[in-house]
Amino acid sequence: MDAPPNTLPALSATLHEALETAGLASPDISISHITTLLQRYTAPDYHPFAHHDPSKPYTRTLLDDGNGFFNLMLLVWTPGAGSPVHDHAGSHCLMKVLDGELAETLYAVPDAHDHPTHDERVDSGNEDSVDEGEPKGIRVRKNARLAVGDVAYIHDKIGLHKISNPSPSQRAVSLHLYTPPFEYCKTYCERTGEARASGKCVFYKDFSSRAAAAAGTQSAMTACRQVNVMRPPSPSQDILASSCAKEMRVTLAAGSAVASGI
Ligand SMILES: [Fe+2]
Repeated sequence: MDAPPNTLPALSATLHEALETAGLASPDISISHITTLLQRYTAPDYHPFAHHDPSKPYTRTLLDDGNGFFNLMLLVWTPGAGSPVHDHAGSHCLMKVLDGELAETLYAVPDAHDHPTHDERVDSGNEDSVDEGEPKGIRVRKNARLAVGDVAYIHDKIGLHKISNPSPSQRAVSLHLYTPPFEYCKTYCERTGEARASGKCVFYKDFSSRAAAAAGTQSAMTACRQVNVMRPPSPSQDILASSCAKEMRVTLAAGSAVASGI
């Protein structure tokens, strides 16, 4: 497909074509190429999908389940809130800032011997031992500020990280590509380095083809992607993108794509 990924359906189609069944860790995949695809996505058509539950630090909406091989999702960040320190369960992640600003703190991967998990300490009868002696906190390697258009890359060999929205008043929005998808990861205590299994990573809204199929419909993203794939880039592309955005809004209003966790 030659159409530039300047709309969500076009980006989705391009990612399906570029990744197929491979992940970002594959030697056949160029991280810089996928990064460029994300950088070229600049359209405002994500707005209808940018759901925000202000009672939570961040709100996840699944846009595309990549036929089970990747997840493309939006995260809306509550002002002043952030994630815990976490790993990525073997997944590779590219994150682009679409609105606002995000702060990323990168940590060295802790030594498993120095930082037993909570369950391991319970099993050994030393549940409270972590507070004895010097705290073995995890080591900060880098702090970065990510502005609109910036794309960050993370996987477990790079380290752990936490993401936060430093603004006291403005929400932030980010676009995330995970390969492969994952439901659980580990979170870490910054002071002690203790790891815990996360809760299940769920979505506030799910617009994936899997959720649409469960509801007996076709996802708006899939429908628009097929249209984009079938037509060459032309002056009609703007009209097409506009009609896709309209269709997605209609689907959103009709509630035909149900919310469910991955
Ligand atoms: Fe992350």
